[in-house]
Amino acid sequence: MWDEKGTEYLDMYGGHAVISIGHTHPYWVSAIETQLHQIAFYSNSVIIPIQSRLAEKIGTVSGKQDFQLFLCNSGAEANENALKLASFVTGRKKIIAFTKSFHGRTSLAVAATDNPSSIIAPVNETDNIIFLPFNDEQALKACFEKEGDTIAAVIIEGIQGVGGIRVASNSFLQSIRSLCDKHGALYIADSVQCGYGRTGQFFAHDAAGVDADIYSMAKGMGNGFPIGGILIAPHIAPKYGMLGTTFGGNHLACAAALAVVEVMDNENLLASAASHGAYLMDALSKIPQLQNVRGRGLMIGFDVADEIKDLKKVLLQEFKVFTGEAKPNVIRLLPSLAITKEEIDIFLDRLQKAIQSLL
Ligand SMILES: Cc1ncc(COP(=O)(O)O)c(C=O)c1O
Repeated sequence: MWDEKGTEYLDMYGGHAVISIGHTHPYWVSAIETQLHQIAFYSNSVIIPIQSRLAEKIGTVSGKQDFQLFLCNSGAEANENALKLASFVTGRKKIIAFTKSFHGRTSLAVAATDNPSSIIAPVNETDNIIFLPFNDEQALKACFEKEGDTIAAVIIEGIQGVGGIRVASNSFLQSIRSLCDKHGALYIADSVQCGYGRTGQFFAHDAAGVDADIYSMAKGMGNGFPIGGILIAPHIAPKYGMLGTTFGGNHLACAAALAVVEVMDNENLLASAASHGAYLMDALSKIPQLQNVRGRGLMIGFDVADEIKDLKKVLLQEFKVFTGEAKPNVIRLLPSLAITKEEIDIFLDRLQKAIQSLL
């Protein structure tokens, strides 16, 4: 990226994991331009063929061919629809969410977000959300044993993003699957930040080897063009009128999203995210000043010790590198899945220099 003075920056954050195939990728630009000259928008009162093409392509690349796709405009909206659908389908009201979760800022999504002090307004407060400790199988089991017949859904990020890059263990995700099956609840995989190829698999939850009932997606889906969606398992039959939207799935958004998933496929970006992510994480683990390097693929976090607490600021201002943060002391890396090894090496070099400048 370049600023107004022509200064070049390396983007290791992609505006919160949004830039998946690279800023202004020419294929994506051309797909949007072409669509713009045809038709930008018509409502879902007519059949929009590019939606079907997008659904088919996401099905193939994600390996969830038999799932249905509902399209909306953001991650919060995707989770809102996922939670609402789970309640409709089960006829129940309670939702299990986890400590340090972030699911968005609409009413139910924010209620399932573990941040009571700053982003939940009084009107969003509800007794329908049960917060349990993250990765605690015993607490989950005990909760289901106590009130399993009231639980509509469990919602969980495969890797918590805003919460500080906290990885859900495979056995925890497997327990969610089996407890949901046993008690008739739905498993919602919030894949807004950790999904869409970021970890090297299409969904971070895939690492556990189980299918969720609903996957929510947004961020990387449009490479910056606003679009979100949910993938719905075949055993769920949404009824006409349950979910709806004016803008969701419009022609222009679908053109952008279709271009993204085609580029991911054509350029093998999932494999690349896996191998480049492993290379980056290995190199970061060898830097003594960085603590608890963690994550998977190109979703990586580490703790910054007090002596280098200004690292993020220095990286941006002096070394021209964008990174992200999670309070209080975590740096989050969420670069484009198309990042090259050479760019990673440039980052590592600037990172080491930034650390040295602070010691
Ligand atoms: C895991 C997760 N879910 C949902 C959201 C909300 O997405 P949006 O900001 O597009 O509404 C975010 C945004 O950071 C997120 O990280």
